[in-house]
Amino acid sequence: MTTTFSYSGRFSKDSVETQTAHPAHAKYDFGTAYPPPETAPLDGLVEGLIEGLKREGRDLVYYPDSNGNLALREFTAQKLEADRGFSVDPEDVFLCAGSGEANYCLIQALTDPGSTVVTERFVYSGTLGQLRKAQCNIVGAPIDDSGLIPEALDELFTSLTADGNKPRLLYTIPEHQNPTGSTLPTARRKQIVDICHRHGIPIIEDDCYVDLRFAGETQESFRAMDDSGMVSHVASYSKLLLPGLRLGYFVASKEVRERAIGFRSSSAANHFTSLAVEGFLKNHIQEHKDNLAAALHSKRDAMVSSFGEHFGGTGAKLSQPEGGCYTWLEMPQGADMTGLRDRAFKAGVGYQAGSIFAPNGDGDNYARLCFAYESPEKNREGMALLAQILDDNGMLHAAPAG
Ligand SMILES: Cc1ncc(COP(=O)(O)O)c(C=O)c1O
Repeated sequence: MTTTFSYSGRFSKDSVETQTAHPAHAKYDFGTAYPPPETAPLDGLVEGLIEGLKREGRDLVYYPDSNGNLALREFTAQKLEADRGFSVDPEDVFLCAGSGEANYCLIQALTDPGSTVVTERFVYSGTLGQLRKAQCNIVGAPIDDSGLIPEALDELFTSLTADGNKPRLLYTIPEHQNPTGSTLPTARRKQIVDICHRHGIPIIEDDCYVDLRFAGETQESFRAMDDSGMVSHVASYSKLLLPGLRLGYFVASKEVRERAIGFRSSSAANHFTSLAVEGFLKNHIQEHKDNLAAALHSKRDAMVSSFGEHFGGTGAKLSQPEGGCYTWLEMPQGADMTGLRDRAFKAGVGYQAGSIFAPNGDGDNYARLCFAYESPEKNREGMALLAQILDDNGMLHAAPAG
């Protein structure tokens, strides 16, 4: 007879029970973080894969180079030079299982339990989870519609340092921020580089949405402004192509890279997938970016115009991002988007409550709406339904006059 083996007393002290995630989709799914499914370049990836396999498929018999596939690192180095304005040796590009793994490795290398890390006041929940796992003290810096406010950041660094909590790191998503959709202007980035130098605080720049711009101008990257090693630059092929590829990368100074890669989860990024990505992008990147931009633009417009129709005069605000996947809904104080989330899901609209993006869990009157996944028609209908749900739950009122 087999009895159940008991692990009582055998788990590591840091292990926590974690449920398997099975993303559920509401009828109008604004909760996900997916790029437009109809732009997935499946045929192009197959072609790229075939080409890559013919060229170097025999190498799959070996464990890959620990920095990841050379052809994709060379392509990535050229892309960074062309798109982000800094030159990097392919040896200094480290491919990982998505930008999530890149962030994880850098956070582990640059913090200790109890370290203070500064982020935007609302920031990607995945990174918050990684910082919590690293037992960091996370402090959200003030933001406005353009992201971090340099003067306020400077003051925050000064006061944290005076209290004996000098930040070990600034983590920021400067381009099409998750969740707010804001882009940090170049002039502010320059000020922030100066501030970080003055305080001696390194920056992780998470640039994973940079390829998803459909309006306005791409702003200069932190890494292009600073060659001292203070900036580690993280990016991804999840948002430009498909999250299921699990491919991202980081570029950091040699000393940071050599510490960070000790925390990677396996011996190297997937060589097989890298062949498909490099093979596709080297021939079709511009055409693909254009398709993506057109799809995102019409979807954002649909969501924003439906918001205007159904939320006008209520005091609710919706951000108007120039790229990326998300708009940020700010309801008047007192609206509980956290409490409403499950009821709204059942009624047909999925969203992420703002509180999951707040280091201290506040922000109940905010929500992140992904405009990238559903069609423009569904974005319009879903916003109308969200207004109806808010109204049915007593949360949509005419704003007081004056
Ligand atoms: C800002 C940011 N960084 C990192 C990630 C992780 O993405 P991936 O690991 O698929 O590159 C995401 C995903 O939503 C994100 O929004």
